[in-house]
Amino acid sequence: MIDGEDRARDGLGTKRMESGRGHVVAGLLHHCRTVKDTTEDGAATESTLLEVSVHPGCGNEVACGRTCTAVLEALSARPGEPGSRWWLAQVGALTPQARELEAVASVERMPLKGLLLRPQQLKYFSDGQWPEGFHSEAFHRHLQSKFNVSQLKAVEQSLWPLASMDRRVKASPVTLVQGPPGTGKTHTIMGILNAWHLLQYQRHYSTLEDCILRKLSGAQTSDLDLTGVNEILEVNDGGIHPLPKILVCAPSNSAVDELLRRVLRDSFVDLKGTKYGPRMVRVGAADSRKISEQSKAVFVDAIIDDYMSFSPERVDEEFSKLTNFLTSLSKSVAQLSYQVAATNGASRKAAAGQLARELHRKEKYLLRLEMLECVRVVEGRPNDTRSARESLEILLMKEAEIVFTTLSSSGRNIFSRLHMPFRSVLVDEACQATEPATLQPLIHGCEHCVLVGDPQQLPATVLATELSGTNFSRSLFERLMAAGARVRVLNVQYRMHPMIRHFPSAYFYDGQLVDGPNVKSRTEDVLTGDGCLGPLRFFDVAGGGEARTSSGSLTNESEAKKCVTLARELVNAAKGRPYTIAIITPYRAQVALVKRRIQESGVRGAAGPVLVDTVDSFQGREADVVIFSCVRSAMGPGGIGFLADVRRLNVAITRPRRALWVVGRAASLRASPVWREFIASCEDRHCFVAKSSAERWLKH
Ligand SMILES: Nc1ncnc2c1ncn2[C@@H]1O[C@H](COP(=O)(O)OP(=O)(O)OP(=O)(O)O)[C@@H](O)[C@H]1O
Ligand SMILES: [Mg+2]
Repeated sequence: MIDGEDRARDGLGTKRMESGRGHVVAGLLHHCRTVKDTTEDGAATESTLLEVSVHPGCGNEVACGRTCTAVLEALSARPGEPGSRWWLAQVGALTPQARELEAVASVERMPLKGLLLRPQQLKYFSDGQWPEGFHSEAFHRHLQSKFNVSQLKAVEQSLWPLASMDRRVKASPVTLVQGPPGTGKTHTIMGILNAWHLLQYQRHYSTLEDCILRKLSGAQTSDLDLTGVNEILEVNDGGIHPLPKILVCAPSNSAVDELLRRVLRDSFVDLKGTKYGPRMVRVGAADSRKISEQSKAVFVDAIIDDYMSFSPERVDEEFSKLTNFLTSLSKSVAQLSYQVAATNGASRKAAAGQLARELHRKEKYLLRLEMLECVRVVEGRPNDTRSARESLEILLMKEAEIVFTTLSSSGRNIFSRLHMPFRSVLVDEACQATEPATLQPLIHGCEHCVLVGDPQQLPATVLATELSGTNFSRSLFERLMAAGARVRVLNVQYRMHPMIRHFPSAYFYDGQLVDGPNVKSRTEDVLTGDGCLGPLRFFDVAGGGEARTSSGSLTNESEAKKCVTLARELVNAAKGRPYTIAIITPYRAQVALVKRRIQESGVRGAAGPVLVDTVDSFQGREADVVIFSCVRSAMGPGGIGFLADVRRLNVAITRPRRALWVVGRAASLRASPVWREFIASCEDRHCFVAKSSAERWLKH
């Protein structure tokens, strides 16, 4: 979907087209790549090559199915207009819509089709059981120490469909987890992913070991080199359980990266209670500037860039290293196979386990060899790397046990080219996506999925007015819920100071939110009662300072400076405590302005730079202190615009852990019922800083 601000930006391009004399030709941009070249005198040049298909003049509809440049050719050949000049203006992106359409058209081949079309079957939690062979005290202790009872129930339920390998147990393959902000929905996902991964990994290894024991016991010892063992095992009678293949998605890049950040930070825990890291990759066009160093190690584009930068000598060097590894591996495989064939009892079992691990190492080395092969193919042809990059991406995705990507990127063709099903799918922020968007990760062979979300937070952005009243913006989660599907509800919140939790709990969640023990025991600290600072403050500021940018977005210079003052005050009051600080606002132009002002001021928290982002991008994230710049001080004909969206306000005021400071003009905001109540609640609890004090205190 294009949002309002993007649409305004597109308007700029359209105007440019209109002002030019001549012709407007619509087309689909298929590909855009940078071409590097050298001039005759040896200087490096770079230009952008666009591959566009243009259709209007060929007499066919837009999608005539072939690349048609008839119109361009005819126009450029017109007498009197040699070398005519063309502007390229983007009208909008069609790719996301095309992918969603493809997903809807693929419903027929979805294993979950019947259930999603007849969700009445999801009305009851069917009986489930903890999977066979998955009882471990250490793992249970870990789960119990990390998750509360309702979170644990959600983890357990998501395991039920996997409980029995022979599928005797029929448990609901769809788990819905709902909860207000800070109740640990994303936290629970970590438990689900860990349990899914560990269970499938265990099963793979134990079935591989069984297969080794079964097939190698009578084998001729002369056959037992690497190739021989492979040949024996490759006659797979279907007994070897596949390695985990899990797809983890969210509607936005920032939500996906939040999930990835948490897995990288916390790791998984195995049956002995030891930490381990799964093999995972992050695919899709994430904003590389926002990716942490840690995430880059699993970010497919960064890995591919690294491979593509190898010199021919480096490729040769890596090749010979890997070939040597494989030769020594072959010897170890022969030795272990001999042990399996010739011994018995515990040493035979141990050898089988070791052999299974060696065979996995072999897979890894072979994959690396294939990757080097892809690089070798394009050596000396720097302009021709597209298919090599694609092949590398496919190899990396094949190897990964968990793939992280956005819903939209899960609709890319590359997924069908993998020829590997993603049987387990998990979607965070599932209420922030339309149903066609959520279908995208489910069409790759998904047999069980977990949807996690909160219908009281931001829904999908749908701008097409033609779609109003059609339920198009309704999420799959909401449809299933409306059809009566049972939902696992989480209601203990671990994020917000009770002063911050009070209003959203009362207004959005019928007062149902309960504070977790960590919130209750958090003894405060510098932010309580010191001057104007405190866990909750509404700073009523004078109007003015608001401006509309050429892109249609809004800024407020005066508020931007006040936010900087607040951030500086906080850093001083925190006295080196590593509090994370975020400044959020509904408007993109204000984000850019505040970023500039923060940079100029040099204000920086002990935990790192001050984060500045839109409310929408901050959904699912949290910070110790959140400063919210409302921006809008004058009321337009439409009131206070999308600032009045109750769900946007809910997201904005539920991000902080220790303090929420809102900067806005109360008189304008009171025009909206929800803002009126929020401001009244701040006044009742003595958290409202009147204009005169606020202006004096926040003087920059
Ligand atoms: N059982 C728990 N024990 C201790 N801390 C927890 C527990 N569950 C969640 N938390 C912590 O509470 C905070 C909020 O959790 P999380 O971000 O998962 O909530 P959420 O429901 O996904 O919120 P949002 O609706 O904003 O996405 C995190 O810092 C998380 O580590
Ligand atoms: Mg979350």
